[in-house]
Amino acid sequence: MNILVTGGAGFIGSNFIKYMLSKYDYNIINLDLLTYAGNLNNLKDIKTDRYTFIKGDICDRSLLEKIFNSFDIDIVINFAAESHVDRSIEEPSVFLTTNIIGTQTLLEVAKKYWKISPNDKYCREYKPGVKFLQVSTDEVYGELGQTGKFVETMPLMPNSPYSASKASADLIVRSYHETYGMPVNITRCSNNYGPFQFPEKLIPLMIINCLKDKDLPVYGDGMQIRDWIHVSDHCSAIDTVLRKGINGEIYNIGGNNEIENINIVKLIIKALGKSENLIRFVKDRPGHDRRYAIDNSKITTQLGWVPKYTFEQGMNETIKWYLNNTDWIENIISGDYINYYENMYSNV
Ligand code: NAD
Ligand code: DAU
Repeated sequence: MNILVTGGAGFIGSNFIKYMLSKYDYNIINLDLLTYAGNLNNLKDIKTDRYTFIKGDICDRSLLEKIFNSFDIDIVINFAAESHVDRSIEEPSVFLTTNIIGTQTLLEVAKKYWKISPNDKYCREYKPGVKFLQVSTDEVYGELGQTGKFVETMPLMPNSPYSASKASADLIVRSYHETYGMPVNITRCSNNYGPFQFPEKLIPLMIINCLKDKDLPVYGDGMQIRDWIHVSDHCSAIDTVLRKGINGEIYNIGGNNEIENINIVKLIIKALGKSENLIRFVKDRPGHDRRYAIDNSKITTQLGWVPKYTFEQGMNETIKWYLNNTDWIENIISGDYINYYENMYSNV
């Protein structure tokens, strides 16, 4: 089996590649543009010849055609994206290009290579075993009030340019299933944490700032709620959907761990033996969603997936990982990250 993973040098994609290579004897081709978020250090321990890296853009149709021709791709798992909400507020256009046009370009090329009769617009028959899996997010549903959880049938009400671009991609993927009969699944996961996460995101940013005794910038009142899942549980859920997901279906993924941001920050401070005086409440993120929570009963009851990590165990391991991987951190925060950080947090 030949799997094309896009965005595999980022946080979740790199964890997923290692997870799959250790569990199966599949060949994995990783296509990644290596934007600021892509980091080949995330994959430097891979030794097998079942893994191939290709630097390139998911919007580049001729490159995608070459990849499909050379590797006889059976599965596409699309992680490639611009993924950070704050950056989408500063500069939305690249989010639309990568997240929407990139996804549609991938779908188009996969359809051409997988359809039994590529030139027959009415043909809905595909090579056996092929599938396009779109890695989406719970943010497409918008925000919740104090009660209730996201279910797959809810209308999409995205609030940031990032989540609007992901919602658009979901609709395009769905349309390729409805119109062309393409075998697809969409997964919508909640907030991930774990090793190799880029330190623009809440948990690694707070760990790294804490280690350096820098201010901990908490947006607004810090009472926003996210539903946290360890990245390896997200990987096992995608693996489950790949093997058991019904074509055309959407699956929510979540770990049942709703926590206020401020309590995560306090937990990190305590684990690192620092003072809460480091906390700095700053201007809120525009359009900041107050609460996310995933109802994961479809994937647990229909596909038999269960998350393994408790939040306590996952956070202990994650904090230890950052403590033991200071080279990885220094490599990242010495480059463009400094400019990003100054620009993001100097006026708040
Ligand atoms: P990330 O930002 O760490 O990684 C994204 C990767 O995509 C990077 O390696 C980057 O170089 C690559 N990329 C960007 N533009 C590209 C392009 N045009 N062509 C090829 N590669 C390109 O993101 P992540 O946190 O690992 O998220 C991966 C996916 O999972 C995204 O689609 C995101 O929307 C989704 N997701 C993330 C979370 C989360 O909590 N991080 C939760 C649910 C869903
Ligand atoms: O829900 C899934 C989504 O989770 C993914 O689709 C996104 O790719 C991923 O980035 C993440 O989005 P969030 O905006 O929820 O994650 P982030 O880590 O940026 O922020 C988490 C919460 O912490 C959010 O309420 C904003 C807050 N925050 C974040 C940062 C970076 C702060 O208070 N201070 C900060 O400095």
